[in-house]
Amino acid sequence: MAEIIGAVGTSHVPAIGGAIARRVEDEPYWRPFFKAFPKVRRWLAEARPDTVVMFYNDHGLNFFLDKMPTFAVGAAGEYRNADEGWGLPVQHPLHGDPELSWHVIETLTADGFDLTTCQEMQVDHAVVVPMQLLWPGERPVRLIPVAINTVQHPLPSAARCLALGRSVGRAVATYGGDSRVLVVGSGGLSHQLDGARAGFINRVFDEMCLQALVDGPEVLTRYSTAELVELAGTQGVEILNWIAMRGALSGRIGVVAKNYHIPISNTATGVLALETG
Ligand SMILES: [Fe+2]
Repeated sequence: MAEIIGAVGTSHVPAIGGAIARRVEDEPYWRPFFKAFPKVRRWLAEARPDTVVMFYNDHGLNFFLDKMPTFAVGAAGEYRNADEGWGLPVQHPLHGDPELSWHVIETLTADGFDLTTCQEMQVDHAVVVPMQLLWPGERPVRLIPVAINTVQHPLPSAARCLALGRSVGRAVATYGGDSRVLVVGSGGLSHQLDGARAGFINRVFDEMCLQALVDGPEVLTRYSTAELVELAGTQGVEILNWIAMRGALSGRIGVVAKNYHIPISNTATGVLALETG
């Protein structure tokens, strides 16, 4: 049988990948962010997930503004990374889990989600940075990428993203194979890269969201996407990926690690690791 062992939400700013490449994680600017990860990695080494279901948003490597699916699920045997222009080393391809991917796709479709299915899919920093943070060396896991449109309006609502996560949780629970699944939410926290509010950060809202993601994410569904943009910033609306992540968890939740730090590259960063059972 398959089960979800827990979830990790983490920021995915490209600069984090640059810090990993330059091996400066312990420098004063970076340490307040990276310090959360040794504990998370120790937990993962014990929990031994086989597959990662990652909720993230593509930044133009696989989808561009001309064709932007609201929800897209990968069903490929491998996922290639490529140069996005940030100067980051291109990462090795990540192994897919097509059998579980198709079960997720079938479950989500049965639950009313009209998906884009991707049997070829490139993955950008929003996928590879969290993978690098969680597994700095060998990556003993397969990947199921679930792309959520947080870029091209209209965006899916927080309620819809929470429902998407819940459907993924049902998919894992009804899977016939053996698999230990980690769910990841990638992005945020509050930040805005452009316009009159460039540099916008909202600590109060971020900290409320982090606590709601522990205690019960339903409270976050009261915000419209326009309100989320207002409160978290144009790019901070990536919190939708974390809401989907939390939706996949059910039952008792324990906090493995929680960290919040301002700033990394004009972004409020967060790490939240939750275990089930
Ligand atoms: Fe992003």
